[in-house]
Amino acid sequence: MTRTALVSGAGKGNGRAIALRLAANGYHVFLLGRDSGALAAVAAACVAHSGRADFMAGDLCHADDIASALDAARGRLGSIDVLVNNAGTSARGTVQDADLEDWRKVLDLNLWATIALTRGVLPGMIARRQGAVINISSISGRHSAGGDAIYAASKHALNGFTASLFEDVREFGIKVSCIMPGFVDTPMTAKLRRRHERMIGPEDIAACVDFVLASSARCCPTEIVIRPQFAP
Ligand SMILES: NC(=O)c1ccc[n+]([C@@H]2O[C@H](COP(=O)([O-])OP(=O)(O)OC[C@H]3O[C@@H](n4cnc5c(N)ncnc54)[C@H](OP(=O)(O)O)[C@@H]3O)[C@@H](O)[C@H]2O)c1
Repeated sequence: MTRTALVSGAGKGNGRAIALRLAANGYHVFLLGRDSGALAAVAAACVAHSGRADFMAGDLCHADDIASALDAARGRLGSIDVLVNNAGTSARGTVQDADLEDWRKVLDLNLWATIALTRGVLPGMIARRQGAVINISSISGRHSAGGDAIYAASKHALNGFTASLFEDVREFGIKVSCIMPGFVDTPMTAKLRRRHERMIGPEDIAACVDFVLASSARCCPTEIVIRPQFAP
């Protein structure tokens, strides 16, 4: 039977690479994001691999869009074997200066949308006693730096959520993993004045997802930290 995966933030960057890798492995993928043109392009590339791919554009900070996305994904995929919570955003600023709206935007997407999508897929996974939830966190979920409180708080919280989720569902045979990259060369980092050729490639993040999914039913790589070999 064809395996299925729901990938958020799949129109570019890490999510695009993850979707393409899953499709290359034969998964029927359902792609989420806001930019329907980008999603359509990735879906077309996925179809070339796996024969089937679907997408739906929506803002994952909105509860209605999440509910519609989950309905549409269930409708197209039937059951959802894998959820990759990849959509994410960042904002910088000191705690004393940062805009509260920035806090809300980042926490809504990086944390709340992940929680809502995860809750949406868990009943099916629990009933089938199998599945995988893979959350794309960040090294900022481990370490904090000045000016990074918004993003670091969202990713620290995501790490805590993911660790607890594993304990909640491990006995149902559901894999839960938190992938924590350092700098990856994606649109998110495009404006950083760093050596982009030294950054991790999005394909390397896709390979981490692959590693989790390929792991035997007897184990679960619950955390993966991946950093650039050479400092960017
Ligand atoms: N790049 C890095 O250095 C790095 C390092 C560590 C962790 N990460 C994490 O990796 C994940 C992907 O990041 P990336 O580097 O690939 O970033 P990116 O290139 O900026 O892509 C972000 C993705 O999230 C989607 N997205 C943003 N806001 C959304 C919203 N409100 N609703 C739905 N989708 C939304 C975007 O889709 P649309 O444009 O279609 O909305 C896009 O596909 C994030 O969780 C990020 O925190 C990145």
